[in-house]
Amino acid sequence: MIMLEKIKAIKEEIAAAQAVNKEAVEQLRIKYLSKKGAVSELMSEFRNVPAEQKRELGQKINELKAFVTERIARLKESFELADEVAADDIDLTRTASPLPLGTRHPLSLVKKEILRIFAGMGFTIAEGPEIEDDWHVFESLNFPPDHPARDMQDTFFIGRTPVDVLLRTHTSSVQTRVMEHTRPPIRIVCPGRVYRNEAISARAHCFFHQVEGLYIDKNVSFADLKQVLLGFARQMFGPETKIRLRPSYFPFTEPSAEMDISCDICGGKGCGFCKYTGWVEILGCGMVDPNVLKACGIDPEVYSGYAFGMGIERITNLKYKVKDLRMFSENDVRFLREFEAAH
Ligand code: PHE
Repeated sequence: MIMLEKIKAIKEEIAAAQAVNKEAVEQLRIKYLSKKGAVSELMSEFRNVPAEQKRELGQKINELKAFVTERIARLKESFELADEVAADDIDLTRTASPLPLGTRHPLSLVKKEILRIFAGMGFTIAEGPEIEDDWHVFESLNFPPDHPARDMQDTFFIGRTPVDVLLRTHTSSVQTRVMEHTRPPIRIVCPGRVYRNEAISARAHCFFHQVEGLYIDKNVSFADLKQVLLGFARQMFGPETKIRLRPSYFPFTEPSAEMDISCDICGGKGCGFCKYTGWVEILGCGMVDPNVLKACGIDPEVYSGYAFGMGIERITNLKYKVKDLRMFSENDVRFLREFEAAH
């Protein structure tokens, strides 16, 4: 059965066939599938096959043809793929396509800088919840119930379960939380978002960001507070910066003060930015009221401390001259990209 053997031989040959390139595949195609190729030759021989064998052999030849065609197509495909890769100049060792990096938000930049400065003076970072209870935001901080001082900060109340639940109006609540659970010495800065029920405008927003600081130890004095704040102001706004403390009022500090820095636009001479005073206000501060220490289980006869609090927006405003507070929360990429260089 010479023809069956030929079919078998061709099948084995083609199953083992390899090609080094596309041309070699084409040679194989010509050798087996062209008009004068091995398979076509079998077809023409088929004419002389006795009628009773036609059925079986015809089927075998068809199978062979399909097998050869498939095998050659596969070989060709493998080279086409290689060609495509070469044409695209794909460098498989290259790192994945780089995602454009975002920029740090100006408030994050300034927060980072504030925290870095205080870290350099030995302060650690403490954080707490934005949804708070009345005790941590007001009561513990020497705001008696119904005291008008509560109106200094317009509060978002969000429930009563069974105590008043509210959005914190300052991060002083974090200081209370730390004082509740830690014994002095305590030296912390508390960054975070705070909320006040104010109409949104260029100069006010219903939320903003603060960094507040607290230091409690034996023999802490107002002079310590002043020195730390002077150190901060000079690192933040330049070594020539002057500070001045004006008497003020906060329920949780006694005495209390507000701190101004010399206007860094006019150097203190007076300009539109500082309303011709030469000074701009940047923070509130004071000596922690003994009632606050008592509320947190710290003996005011043994310990004293100071606290201060500033708005990050305000500092950013002074440092980068952002006139409209709303810019900070509008996520305008053109605005945010302006701070790329400050990274
Ligand atoms: N908690 C005050 C505020 O939010 C800031 C402050 C903190 C003032 C600590 C004095 C001492 O305005």
